[in-house]
Parts: sequence; structure tokens; C-alpha cells
Amino acid sequence: MILPQKHSFTGTTIFTIMSALAQEYNAINLSQGFPDFPIDEELSALVAEAAAKGFNQYAPMAGLPMLREAIANDFKSRYGIDVDKDTEITITPGATYAIYTAFSAILQPGDEVIVLEPAYDSYIPNIETNGAIAVPVQLTAPDFHVDWDKVKNAITPKTKALILNTPHNPTGAVWQKSDWDKLADVVRDTDIVILSDEVYEQLIFDGQQHYTVMQHPELRARSFALYSFGKVFHNTGWKIGFCIAPADFTTAFRRLHQYLCFSVNTPAQYALAHHLANGGRQPVYKMLQQKRDLFLDLLSQTGFSIYKPASGSYFQVAGYERISDLGDVEFAQWLTKEYGVATIPVSPFYSNKKDDKLVRFCFAKKDETLRTAVERLSKLNG
Ligand SMILES: Cc1ncc(COP(=O)(O)O)c(C=O)c1O
Repeated sequence: MILPQKHSFTGTTIFTIMSALAQEYNAINLSQGFPDFPIDEELSALVAEAAAKGFNQYAPMAGLPMLREAIANDFKSRYGIDVDKDTEITITPGATYAIYTAFSAILQPGDEVIVLEPAYDSYIPNIETNGAIAVPVQLTAPDFHVDWDKVKNAITPKTKALILNTPHNPTGAVWQKSDWDKLADVVRDTDIVILSDEVYEQLIFDGQQHYTVMQHPELRARSFALYSFGKVFHNTGWKIGFCIAPADFTTAFRRLHQYLCFSVNTPAQYALAHHLANGGRQPVYKMLQQKRDLFLDLLSQTGFSIYKPASGSYFQVAGYERISDLGDVEFAQWLTKEYGVATIPVSPFYSNKKDDKLVRFCFAKKDETLRTAVERLSKLNG
């Protein structure tokens, strides 16, 4: 039997490969983006409370009302914007699912989608699975800013959507307010829909501010904004996220969502709702900025080159050109096997596998994990 291959990416993702290699070689895993420190005790207690209180059956399709209300209040207090919990917020099993569902809600075969690269690895397979065509536009190194002329030139009558990510995985770059204005200029006379992947919205450093697409009324009216609790509360394994979109977009999104998974883990939603309502959002950026600074300081004693400290996310990209001539995938595998530190090569984030001899480190780790990892890296010549 021949089954259809619905997208052009075959094989296993680099995240799975590197995490498996890390395990096999007992390496310190700075590859996949997840913290190695515990979640807030209140949050764990709240899941147990939810189960004990009987919150164990299907939640409403759009998500528990109390969680949607807590999100709306949170956006009001942090961004000063009004979000309608009933018509604009949908709880999802993670942001990856929300991105896929948003694409499915809008794409028809033959549509084109602009993808700013390097890009999170699910975007292009999601686009292609929906019969659409990804049109990559490369960000400009070393600060990975958007070249708006390149974006303008990539637009055709078939362009249906553009997906962006700020703060950015893998580079840690952050959009400025002016980027949103430029995006608005570029799409103004088109029907292009924006997917704004803001899963790292709260991981932003050096006194900078995250501007959400939701704060730009003109763009908000044509956008799906996608979020993940996993990145805020250190619980990536819970896989709970949400989508905020205008009422008509939300209707289209839910039309698919109700048949894709119908509803999302109830005890986890209960716990997140109460944690949020209790003001549970720690200023997570403070802890992660301290980790970024520690990691940069430690890494400066090695042969790796830092072109720009991460402005957001929990990733730092570093060059290894002073250490090795290997391609980045081979280098990352060699580093894991020989030095016991797993990273992610950056070339798999490009559809043309552009290799700038960069690897991505995740610094959302205990201080001792970072210290031990860099101790190993300092043995490299460079
Ligand atoms: C840019 C980006 N978008 C989305 C996600 C996925 O979030 P979730 O775990 O909620 O599916 C990630 C996770 O690493 C990410 O880096």
C-alpha cells in the first residue's frame, strides 16, 4: 500500500535526533527547548485539586470559561487591550496545534505562505499538508532582522498568509514596534492573513518590551495570535496553548478544532486558570535573563563566537567557526558524542539548509547544568 507523503519533510526532526543522541551519550541536553527546573508548587497542587474536585470530564470546546477569562484579564493588565473571552480566545493542546489549525482554517491548495527563515520546524510541513506552498524569506544576520523589501518582493496574487515569530526561535531576535508598522504597510492593500507566533512573549530581556500583534488594531483584524503556557510556566509537557483571533477568524478556527480534538485537558486548564487568576505569572524574564547572562559569561571563555546576545526567547545562537570546519549538523553530533553537550544546528531551520556554522543553545536550565556544560565546552580548542 502506498500512503501519501503530504509534505516535503521526510525523516525525523532534528530535535528528536539530538535529544535521542543526548540520551545515548549521556550528554547535557542544551538542544531541545525545555527547562530542567521544576514548575511552581502551586501549579502542581492545583492539578491535583482539579482532579479531586471532579474536573475530569470534557471541557467546553473553546476551553474552560474561567481560563479564557483569566487570559482576557491577563492581556488587559499586561497589554491594556480588551479581548473577548467568548468570541476571540480558543484553548488548544499547545501552540503547534494552534498554528496547524489556523493554517488549515485559511489555506486552499495552491495558496502561498511567506515564512521568515530560519523558522520553527512545523511551519512548512503544516503549510504543505494543507496543499499550499511555502515561500521562504531569509532574515538578515547577524541580528536576524526582517528585510521588508524582500518580503514585499515575495508577495504575489497567491499570497494568502505570512507567519512570523517574535521573540524568535532559534535566534533570540525580537521585533521592534517599527517592524509591526512596516508589516502593516506591506499587507495593507492585500488579503494576507498574519499568523503571529508569540509563544516566547514573556521571555524578553534588557528592559525591552514585547509588542504583540494584538496591540496593532489594523493588523489584529487580520491575525491569528498564537501562545503557549509551556514557555511561561516551565511546563512544556502539559501542551496547553491558545489562539486569539477576531470573531470571524475564531469561528473558522473552531470549525476545525471541534473535529480535530474537540477539547483540551480539563485538570490542566483548571490549574492554569487558578494560577493565572492568583497572579501566578512570575516575572519569568528576570530569571531567564540572569541565565542568559550567566551563559554568555561562561561561553565567552570558550572558542564559540557570540554575534549578538539573545534579546528574547530561551535560545542563544553561537558560531563555532574558530573550533571546527564541520557542517553544523555533523558538528552538533560530534559535540554531543565527544564532549557530552547537545545543541541544535541552525541549518535545519532553513528550507535550503543554509549552513552558517551556527548552533543553538537552550539556556533555560539550572545554573549548575549551564556551568557543567560550559566546563565541557571550554575543553574545545578555539
Ligand atoms: C517558535 C515556536 N512556536 C511554537 C512552539 C510550540 O509550542 P507548544 O509546545 O505549545 O506546541 C515552539 C516550541 O518550541 C516554538 O519554539
